Amino acid sequence: MNFLTLAKARYSCKKFSDQPVEKEKLEQTLEAGRLAPTAKNNQPQHIYVLSSKESLELVDKITPCRYGAPVVLAVAHDKNNVFEYPGGAYNSGAEDAAIVATHLVLGAKDVGLDTCWLNFFDPDKAKELLGLPENEAVTILIDVGYPDPAAKPLPNHESRKPLSETVTYR
Ligand SMILES: Cc1cc2nc3c(=O)[nH]c(=O)nc-3n(C[C@H](O)[C@H](O)[C@H](O)COP(=O)(O)O)c2cc1C
Repeated sequence: MNFLTLAKARYSCKKFSDQPVEKEKLEQTLEAGRLAPTAKNNQPQHIYVLSSKESLELVDKITPCRYGAPVVLAVAHDKNNVFEYPGGAYNSGAEDAAIVATHLVLGAKDVGLDTCWLNFFDPDKAKELLGLPENEAVTILIDVGYPDPAAKPLPNHESRKPLSETVTYR
């Protein structure tokens, strides 16, 4: 699929069917994430594939936004393996996780899966419930699966500001 066609086809799915996700499609999605760039190529990401009954029950304790997805990807990063911006106030952890997550959602769409990116959760509670090691933080969850036949993009999916509002040439 042409990139802009793929980017237009992706939307936040809020109603998934219980159709299982094939291992091969999941692996292709994860491969798209693996190819993402990260600051200094540190690759601090750690993706947890949550699909067992127990794991999905945990996800439902973390966020109300699973929408029936049979797979949830928790995108964590190693806080000790991030690029520190000069000045010391910022680091690339959430940024690295976000580019990996972007590759994941677009990679999923490319193999016919829908997704919903989530941040409606308490990262500390998620870390505790998922039993993440001390050095990791989780800032992104991604629902993955096939859409329910009744699923459709929310009206705001079509609403994007024109470039004239978001781009400045200087
Ligand atoms: C950083 C980020 C966080 C989001 N968090 C949530 C969330 O917690 N729950 C949810 O239902 N949707 C969430 N979304 C989906 C957005 O609401 C959705 O992307 C936006 O409304 C545009 O719709 P579209 O993705 O269909 O184009 C999130 C999206 C992004 C990029």
